Amino acid sequence: MPNIKLVNVTKRFDQITAINKINIEIKDGEYICVLGPTGSGKTTLLRLIAGVIKPDEGEIYIDGKLVNDVPPYERNVAYMPQHYSLFPHMKVIENVSFGPLAKGLDRAEAIQVSMRMLEMTRLAWRADSFPNELSGGMQQRVALARGLASGAKILLLDEPLGALDARLRVELRYRLRELARENNLTTIHVTHDQEEAMVVADRIFILREGRIEQEGTPTEIYNNPNSIFVANFIGGANFLEGFISEEKNGGTLIEIRGNLKVYASKNRFPVGDRVVIAIREEKTKIHKRRTGKKPNIIEGTVKDASFIGEFIIYEVSLINGDVINCKVPIATSKKTFSIGEKVLIELNPEDIMVYPYPPAGLYRELEAV
Ligand SMILES: Nc1ncnc2c1ncn2[C@@H]1O[C@H](COP(=O)(O)OP(=O)(O)OP(=O)(O)O)[C@@H](O)[C@H]1O
Ligand SMILES: [Mg+2]
Repeated sequence: MPNIKLVNVTKRFDQITAINKINIEIKDGEYICVLGPTGSGKTTLLRLIAGVIKPDEGEIYIDGKLVNDVPPYERNVAYMPQHYSLFPHMKVIENVSFGPLAKGLDRAEAIQVSMRMLEMTRLAWRADSFPNELSGGMQQRVALARGLASGAKILLLDEPLGALDARLRVELRYRLRELARENNLTTIHVTHDQEEAMVVADRIFILREGRIEQEGTPTEIYNNPNSIFVANFIGGANFLEGFISEEKNGGTLIEIRGNLKVYASKNRFPVGDRVVIAIREEKTKIHKRRTGKKPNIIEGTVKDASFIGEFIIYEVSLINGDVINCKVPIATSKKTFSIGEKVLIELNPEDIMVYPYPPAGLYRELEAV
């Protein structure tokens, strides 16, 4: 059960700094998911740990040992690249058992281990096919089985489930998690799918432009995103621009466009500061009429309604022109709202997150995803 440590690791490709002074520590048996926009350095991070490329600066330790000059095959890692390639002239079973055989297992054992991994990835029935006889998703599952069969204690998986349909992706993400736990594997799993990361990861790393923007458990990152970028990247959120207008009852009033005031119970900025407030789509409430005296009731008009799985997202435009998306679970929503209907939106003061106005503007932050 090896641990992994990176100290001030930097990797450049000509002018591009793909990984910029990264410091991370991953514990024995931890399951890490790495999320980040395209080009943020996710693949480069895995390749550095796998040993396929070397850092320009900094140290990489595996199990306490400096491995900067240790070749990939001596690092005890199974690396499944984003653009994996199978040996085209070998059958599926031969592809998968390549690693175990290379490690010195006898043929019967190697086949047994490989068949187990092919069963896990639901491909045992295609063991005798050649890669070009399989679909893209099946080839990806062979590559995954090959990585898992190698017997390495560190798994580096670059979008291992990306080419699969939704149902299989959900099934395999849990099987992967189980397998890692049963075999005490230390796993780094790069994914574009934030839901996947939220459900399988012990900890999530969010990469942005070669740096770790935030790391934490899924709950920490969801409840306390430390930047607009992270709040936007993990879970849908609404963002409104404003400034701190008054301190009140331990919290603050924030004035958004059109003289609208919103009360937030958490705030760390002084009166006068320009800020952005964020509120999760699923934390908003939508009402037909006012019930009791509650803070943060804002009038709006339903512009659109979209059905997403078990939720409806209502797009509500406020009188100031801003738009708030309200995500309502279908099962619990007693009322539905029609397009054009006047509604009241309720924002709980506890759920309002406040960020400094970004120097390059709000849209630059939201586009970066
Ligand atoms: N071999 C290389 N030569 C030159 N530039 C490279 C090389 N590998 C990566 N880069 C650059 O480093 C940056 C990070 O790339 P990387 O592949 O790590 O991103 P990523 O987060 O995996 O993106 P994606 O989600 O698209 O897979 C990008 O700007 C990329 O162009
Ligand atoms: Mg990549």
